[in-house]
Amino acid sequence: MPTLHLDLGSRSYPICIGPGLLGQRDVFAPHIIAGQKVMVVTNTTVAPLYLERTLAGLTDFQCDHVILPDGEQYKTLETLDTIFTALLNQRHDRSTTLIALGGGVIGDLTGFAAASYQRGVNFIQIPTTLLAQVDSSVGGKTGVNHPLGKNMIGAFYQPQLVLADTATLNTLPERELGAGIAEVIKYGLIRDAEFFVWLEQNIDALRARDPAALSYAIERSCRNKAEVVARDERESGERALLNFGHTFGHAIETGLGYGVWLHGEAIAAGMALAADLSRRQGWLSGADQQRIIDLLTRARLPTQAPAALDSERLLELMAVDKKVSSGKLRFILLKAIGHAVISADFDARMLQTTLDTCRTEQPLALAPA
Ligand code: NAD
Ligand code: GLY
Repeated sequence: MPTLHLDLGSRSYPICIGPGLLGQRDVFAPHIIAGQKVMVVTNTTVAPLYLERTLAGLTDFQCDHVILPDGEQYKTLETLDTIFTALLNQRHDRSTTLIALGGGVIGDLTGFAAASYQRGVNFIQIPTTLLAQVDSSVGGKTGVNHPLGKNMIGAFYQPQLVLADTATLNTLPERELGAGIAEVIKYGLIRDAEFFVWLEQNIDALRARDPAALSYAIERSCRNKAEVVARDERESGERALLNFGHTFGHAIETGLGYGVWLHGEAIAAGMALAADLSRRQGWLSGADQQRIIDLLTRARLPTQAPAALDSERLLELMAVDKKVSSGKLRFILLKAIGHAVISADFDARMLQTTLDTCRTEQPLALAPA
């Protein structure tokens, strides 16, 4: 079982990756206070698949669970309150441990509940989507959405343990798998050129859910993320590189309406647009841009923005994004494959050309759900 460590001094924690980790008592025991309670937080989709197996590894503890409705629309303060009510009803005190069993929505909600319940209790992440295993469960960003903005209420709060059971990915819908692969490709593009080459050689195995390929990709992605977070936990600099493709991607997601494209699908198109702008800036070679498009295409991910959103609309949406962040439009761009930089220094005419040309009239040929 590959185990990585996210090195954050007294808040360091292991990330255990491998098939069949759910239900193994010895992986949990060192991270839960002996004799104390546990609350497993999951949803209506994941509970029938994995709750029983998870509870089998927790028989040394007094275990409760709460099953939430499934969906991004439930990542709210109201749902958080459901978790608090369950904790109070079952008389959980400050020595309790919360366990997030599910995708990024459950992980973000449970992490924020742990950050705020009785001013902070322990929590464990058991991510069950590829996106959550390679990204959201690692690094301590927790929170909920507000009607006026996504992820607007939250806290940096690190878990005690991340346990990625790769066997849970066998039940993941095809499109959700693809959305996770987009985030895996992101690490190759922003800081790990060797990994990008590995992905070019193994993308078919990943799409076919080859267990060895998935374990390797998850471990290498988590290693990249852990290195970045260890150096910049609160995103004062380098961590922003993890948002590669997100300025374009968020505009696509918001413009189409949440859920039409999955987050990872919008990010894939966003990364292709960022690569196009990087090439127009004279940084990325045309050959490398083509390698990026080829890999995303083989991963069955979109490489262009939908024609339904014209460049004016995309610019408008990106400007809103700008207002809620630093007040200045910045892009993560590529100097080369494996070398990203944060830049406010781009040519507005080139951006316009990227937005005008990287759009498709074709309906998205998505992998079946
Ligand atoms: P998700 O949590 O909505 O999960 C996707 C779908 O898959 C859901 O229907 C879920 O119930 C289902 N599912 C989960 N595991 C399954 C399994 N093993 N088998 C079958 N179905 C399964 O979505 P996601 O992509 O995991 O996460 C997206 C969320 O993560 C967003 O809210 C986003 O803001 C957040 N996020 C957070 C961070 C962070 O650093 N905290 C980073 C990236 C994304
Ligand atoms: N997913 C971006 C981050 O964790 O910083």
